[in-house]
Amino acid sequence: MEMLAFYYFLAFFLAFFLLSKQLFPNRKNLPPSGPLSFPIIGHLYLLKKPLHHNLARVAAQYGPIVLLNFGSRRVLHVSSPSAAEECFTTNDIVFANRPNLLVGKYLGFDSTILSLASYGQHWRNLRRLTTLEIFSSTRLQMFSKIRTNEVRSLLRRLVVAENSSKTVEMKSTFFELTLNNMMMMIAGKRYYGDNGGDLDKARQFQELVEEIFGAAGASNLVDFLPLLWWVGFNGLEKKLLRLQRKRDQFMQELIEEHRLARTQSKDDKSLIDVLLSLQENDPKYYTDEIIIGIIQVLLNAGTDTTAGTMEWAMSLLLNHPEVLKKAQVEIDTIVGQDRLLNESDVANLPYLHCIINETLRLYPAGPLLIPHESSEECIVGGFTIPRGTMLLVNLWAIHKDPKLWEEPTKFRPERMEGIGGVRDGYKLMPFGSGRRSCPGEGLALRVVGLTLGSLIQCFDWERIDEELVDMTEGAGLTLPKAKPLEAKCKPRPAMLSFLSQL
Ligand code: HEM
Ligand SMILES: *[C@@H]1O[C@H](CO)[C@@H](O)[C@H](O)[C@H]1NC(C)=O
Ligand SMILES: *[C@@H]1O[C@H](CO)[C@@H](O)[C@H](O)[C@H]1NC(C)=O
Ligand SMILES: *[C@@H]1O[C@H](CO)[C@@H](O)[C@H](O)[C@H]1NC(C)=O
Repeated sequence: MEMLAFYYFLAFFLAFFLLSKQLFPNRKNLPPSGPLSFPIIGHLYLLKKPLHHNLARVAAQYGPIVLLNFGSRRVLHVSSPSAAEECFTTNDIVFANRPNLLVGKYLGFDSTILSLASYGQHWRNLRRLTTLEIFSSTRLQMFSKIRTNEVRSLLRRLVVAENSSKTVEMKSTFFELTLNNMMMMIAGKRYYGDNGGDLDKARQFQELVEEIFGAAGASNLVDFLPLLWWVGFNGLEKKLLRLQRKRDQFMQELIEEHRLARTQSKDDKSLIDVLLSLQENDPKYYTDEIIIGIIQVLLNAGTDTTAGTMEWAMSLLLNHPEVLKKAQVEIDTIVGQDRLLNESDVANLPYLHCIINETLRLYPAGPLLIPHESSEECIVGGFTIPRGTMLLVNLWAIHKDPKLWEEPTKFRPERMEGIGGVRDGYKLMPFGSGRRSCPGEGLALRVVGLTLGSLIQCFDWERIDEELVDMTEGAGLTLPKAKPLEAKCKPRPAMLSFLSQL
């Protein structure tokens, strides 16, 4: 009898559920909801890697504005310039928030990590502080010597006897250059290479970065399905906590070193020195945790992204020798061959800029940006977007949209000539747009421009064999190349005398 009542109840409930969908259809004019959404998991089945490919496929079928359910989270997927523009202009403040993700909780003492902090006073402080101390053009200018030294040290390592060529593994080469550059700015010391590198620490650190990214990948799923937490994923929490402790210990040692030996000279002050003096004046706000958070975000957000972009650019150039030749001719014409290219030359090399822009179009290191979240209800493309919706802007899809780009998969730097305006009408925004966009853009472009320019000026480059470089994307948060790039280089005769003097 009781069983029967239960079935009645169930039938009634189901009927009501189905009817209510008919009676109150989408009163709020929500965006289309994409493919089949299963109970509980919703569209989580799309989360397999790489996510930006799957979502681009959804967009091709359901349009540029789609509202998905990732488990218990609502996700707005946007893949047209006009919708992206609306998110980052009219609704810029609404979407300036970040979702509370598990990664953030374990990587960043909740909110001391700039890139993951929710929008508010604290984020503003961190952003202002880092802009002032690192990203401003004055500070970038001051750090120019560091970049020049790193590039020269790289050139030195690449030189071999005249007329013979050398095979180089470019992935780690670029990674070492960017990490050295970053650590010099942060702590005034480098980890790889000739004068005073600390290889042991470097290896420790690299492992740590990789482990953290790995664990972050796994925590993705848990973010959308808190239920998983209870059915076996809670081992992950232990792992993340262990990594956090390891990371903190590494950073704490770095801070202690600087506490003991504070650099007094104004010019040589590293970022940690600056932060420690701020700590003296306001110890309550500038805690060690805040300092560690700032270092952490610079390393996480700035190293792999910049190094990866250079690796993709070099791969594209090796597969398109005519483009490489044209860039070399530009440098020979504008800089010449009787001195080494320097950072002020880069501004005068428009074709090199086109190559960098075209690389960032094809391989943007943040294919879905970093997730944003709406802090209140808003309108995008005429649709109502509820408060608390996660926003994923599919840059990768926009950058490859055949409606926006002719032969979008082709590497054609010439197409970048003469474009401009705000992110080229939101068609090309590898660094995002609006108040939450990448603050490291200026730094990244300086490093990439100087490094590529110098490599092209000083060496002739070739693939290691006849076969084209494999351009497959690997799995990872920053669009890594699946197979590390190897290349052959030979010093150009005219540059040899400068190279041997380095
Ligand atoms: C080619 C290299 C780089 C690319 C393609 C890139 C791209 C991006 C993208 C797409 C975002 C997310 C924007 C959004 O969510 O709307 C971002 C955020 C960020 N990037 Fe970069 N980035 C690069 C290099 C750097 C460097 C060198 C640094 C610092 C040293 C850096 C620091 C940051 C930070 C701190 C954020 C978070 C900003 C915030 O949430 O307020 N990036 N970057
Ligand atoms: C390098 O090659 C050039 C021309 O190919 C030749 O004139 C020169 O003697 C060679 N140098 C050495 C050290 O073999
Ligand atoms: C680059 O070289 C040019 C020509 O030698 C010089 O005028 C300029 O000041 C240099 N810039 C930097 C940043 O060293
Ligand atoms: C292309 O590169 C140049 C120089 O780096 C930059 O000023 C320009 O804004 C870029 N174009 C776009 C659309 O981002």
